Amino acid sequence: MTGRFVVLEGGDGSGKSTQRDLLVAWLQSSGIDAVATLEPGGSELGVSLRKLLLDGGAIAPRAEALLMAADRAQHIADVIRPALARGAWVVSDRHVPSSLVYQGVVRDLGVDAVGALSVFAADGLVPDLVVVLDVDDATAEERRSPGSDRMEREGDAFHEHVRRAYRTLAEAKGWTVIAGAGPPEAVAARLRAVVEPFVNAESAPS
Ligand code: TYD
Repeated sequence: MTGRFVVLEGGDGSGKSTQRDLLVAWLQSSGIDAVATLEPGGSELGVSLRKLLLDGGAIAPRAEALLMAADRAQHIADVIRPALARGAWVVSDRHVPSSLVYQGVVRDLGVDAVGALSVFAADGLVPDLVVVLDVDDATAEERRSPGSDRMEREGDAFHEHVRRAYRTLAEAKGWTVIAGAGPPEAVAARLRAVVEPFVNAESAPS
């Protein structure tokens, strides 16, 4: 069996973690070894980095980008590559696209500069599929937990910018965008429709 690396993306309040868990449960119920994970915070070091990134005070944009990249490098080394090597699927709540959107566009460090940093951190690992959960501003504001971490405390304009940046970059980078509105089970069905060809490709005779 060949593992696949699937990344779920979207602004805060887009419902990624719920959809990641539903997708992993569905893969597992289809007899596929699948791992649910996240960035930042998917490794032991990453748990500490996540606390620094989200629970502390102000962080300079470049330091933020470097800490996200460090989290990613450790996550890949400790969790993602070992899972893929044993043939498991990995479904991650956020990865490189988050850095391109949040640090590259919204923090204005530049998509190319942050992209280069991400290439260094990822050391050749590229997702098989990136799916962006797109929700309108009103739905996202409703779902976003108010002020629970440093990023979530950013204002509405910041989060609207994030959602716009996802739409623009998705087109340029070939990420798949699906509607994230509606009941979780309806979104899960849309997501499965996107993922299913990868499952079938895996079981097809080579
Ligand atoms: P996450 O836990 O996914 O937040 P939420 O559940 O609210 O979507 O991600 C934490 C925050 O970190 C989120 O606001 C986005 C931000 N982030 C970046 O700015 N750059 C990155 O590279 C990553 C992975 C996350």
